[in-house]
Amino acid sequence: MCGIIGYVGTDEALPILADGLKNLEYRGYDSAGVALVNRDGIEVHKQAGEIDDLVLPDSSPETLGIGHTRWSTHGKPTDANAHPHVDCTGDVAVVHNGIIENYADLKAELREDGHEFTSETDTEVVPHMVEDELADGMSLPDAVATVVSRLEGSFALGVVAPGYDGIVATRRGSPLVVGHGESGNFIASDVPAFIEHTRQVSYIEDGDIAHVTPAGVSVEQDGEPVDRDVETVEWEAEAAEKGGYDHYMIKEIHEQPSALRQAISGRLDELHGDVDLDIDLPAEYLQSLEEIQIVACGTSYHAGLFAARLFEEYASVRASVEIASEYKFTGGRDPWRTLVVAVTQSGETADTLSALRRADQSGARTLAVTNTVGSTVTREADHSLYIRAGPEIGVAASKTFASQVATLTLLGVYLGRRRDTLGSSAASEILSNVRGLPGAVQQVLDDEDLVLEVAEEYADGDAFFFIGRGLGYPVALEGALKLKEISYDHAEGFAAGELKHGPLALVTPDTPTLAVLTDGTRPSETLNNVKEVESRGSPVVGCSSLEADEDLLDARFDVPELGVMEPLVANVYLQLFAYHVANLKGRSIDKPRNLAKSVTVE
Ligand code: M6R
Repeated sequence: MCGIIGYVGTDEALPILADGLKNLEYRGYDSAGVALVNRDGIEVHKQAGEIDDLVLPDSSPETLGIGHTRWSTHGKPTDANAHPHVDCTGDVAVVHNGIIENYADLKAELREDGHEFTSETDTEVVPHMVEDELADGMSLPDAVATVVSRLEGSFALGVVAPGYDGIVATRRGSPLVVGHGESGNFIASDVPAFIEHTRQVSYIEDGDIAHVTPAGVSVEQDGEPVDRDVETVEWEAEAAEKGGYDHYMIKEIHEQPSALRQAISGRLDELHGDVDLDIDLPAEYLQSLEEIQIVACGTSYHAGLFAARLFEEYASVRASVEIASEYKFTGGRDPWRTLVVAVTQSGETADTLSALRRADQSGARTLAVTNTVGSTVTREADHSLYIRAGPEIGVAASKTFASQVATLTLLGVYLGRRRDTLGSSAASEILSNVRGLPGAVQQVLDDEDLVLEVAEEYADGDAFFFIGRGLGYPVALEGALKLKEISYDHAEGFAAGELKHGPLALVTPDTPTLAVLTDGTRPSETLNNVKEVESRGSPVVGCSSLEADEDLLDARFDVPELGVMEPLVANVYLQLFAYHVANLKGRSIDKPRNLAKSVTVE
């Protein structure tokens, strides 16, 4: 995700902002910048690329400024799209994390009023809107409060303008923290940005308007002053980067509700049963489409398996999923009526790129589904669709799987609606399940103590088997991959019906089985397979939304009801299980042996 830092006080702001940007590097970014405020105006320095390459003045006397590390969601990683963004006069500067959903309408309105834009970002509407309010005589805090009342989406904002001796900061759905220092005060997206200056922090809440000045910090909500407690951060810098979690992976597992919110933000139109994905696949091409071939590796392959089932159902089209490194043996058939979808969170996986190139050479149209704006896959594919999960640092993919599946589900609805194979009310129901994902995933995360107990009970198993049918099958594969990757235990995922065709020979009282028993997985049939392993002594843990299966299960994880999205919610239990088993064994969770985050060799 993007990172924010801001400072106002008696020290020079530039070195504090520059250090703050470096401290935010761990979050991942593709561009960076700062805005320094003086009595007459604002000086902005920003560019795409590494922070070390950002050209900044050697020194600056200014004591007020904001800085930003950008992880692109709207517009490529370019100098113009980097933050801070300014208004027409250059006198209002803004840094922003999150997504402004109604930016296109606001931008059109502002353009009609004569505002000129210099970037493709959603953010840039904010300084222009503040400019209008200031021109009407409002103070900066009132202008920001008025502007945010017109914004839809999730955001954290830091705003500066000459004439106001501080930073106005606000948030809705994106984190924002204020730091209370001795020689000045700070805003940031998270504590590591300023931890070497102060450990005294206040967490800003949704709807708060914070006035951060050299003299202090005051906060208003709906125009009334409110108190936000000042807390002392006890973590060391490294732990603070992980938000107090022991590992990036568990932090990223817990980030799934907000990652999912970002993935679906501005894309759902439940009223009309449709989605807005901003991919311009021609209508005639979609109508004549005969096959979708998904190419991907590892976790992205599992997301592809999930999606293929939905594409077939929603869009009535043949959908296959190919392990990308195998595509060279099978790809290239019927290219004219085939859409090849490359699913890759990094956008740099060599096997997936090679499959994409083969598809391209054969003449097929290609679509990249990725987390990384500006990555190689987006430069080479005909179209790109972003999953907007924010950067993932743990080698084991967690939040990106959830965001891939959610985004691919929306793609399925998009295809079904445009091919007239999915009615609007069926689409609305699917979309309301997608909308329920962040809340349902949060419910699972709130159940983590139970997962820890179960992990303690079974961590010493000789091997672990994961079973599921339908949409539960890719989840079983993903659950097993997660466990083997980080715990180094032998773990296998099976289509539940396959057990009796061989794998059952491996089942003993020392091989726990984890079963997916939710909507979309034919759970009553899987219960028969549960009986098969149980009668061979295997303890069974069920991720279940069924009403009555306790008698068959040794442990049960409750999956909230969410229709077709239930298997994805069940997967969060499997992520937590894998994490806790690996943690109990003291494994190197964020960097498992022999593995790399981005696999750039074939
Ligand atoms: O960046 P990609 O999605 O293309 O990466 C594909 C796989 O390398 C990746 O999913 C890998 O399997 C993960 N380590 C799984 O946790």
